[in-house]
Amino acid sequence: MATWDLSRTAHHVLICNGSSCSQVGAEELTQAIRKEISSREADDVIHTTRTRCNGRCQDKCVIISYPTGTWYKDLKPEDAPVFIDSLLNGEDFEEKVSHSYNGAGFVRVDGVVTGVQKDKVKVSKVSKIL
Ligand code: FES
Repeated sequence: MATWDLSRTAHHVLICNGSSCSQVGAEELTQAIRKEISSREADDVIHTTRTRCNGRCQDKCVIISYPTGTWYKDLKPEDAPVFIDSLLNGEDFEEKVSHSYNGAGFVRVDGVVTGVQKDKVKVSKVSKIL
């Protein structure tokens, strides 16, 4: 277990390791991104966290980057260098953006699947309430 000093962290990258993303290489993507961060000695600047499903399985592999609030789709291990470049340059990896945060909400990029509305029945079906 680690307790990182985040005082120099500029980017927090949430890497989905849910089951759908894992079926198409989330582990390899996670390792490729972490290797790229380490090779650039950017560990203090970019923090990564594995997550469970983020509810956008159609977009697998999903990554969410903060503080911009940008959601990415279809990320593959070979995208890691360009993705890390984009973070370090303060830009989005435009080709892979699925949603951007505009201050009021997340705006879906044209061509990205809308998804289904979150009504109570659907939420209860996918939630494991203990
Ligand atoms: S498993 Fe990654 S979004 Fe669902």
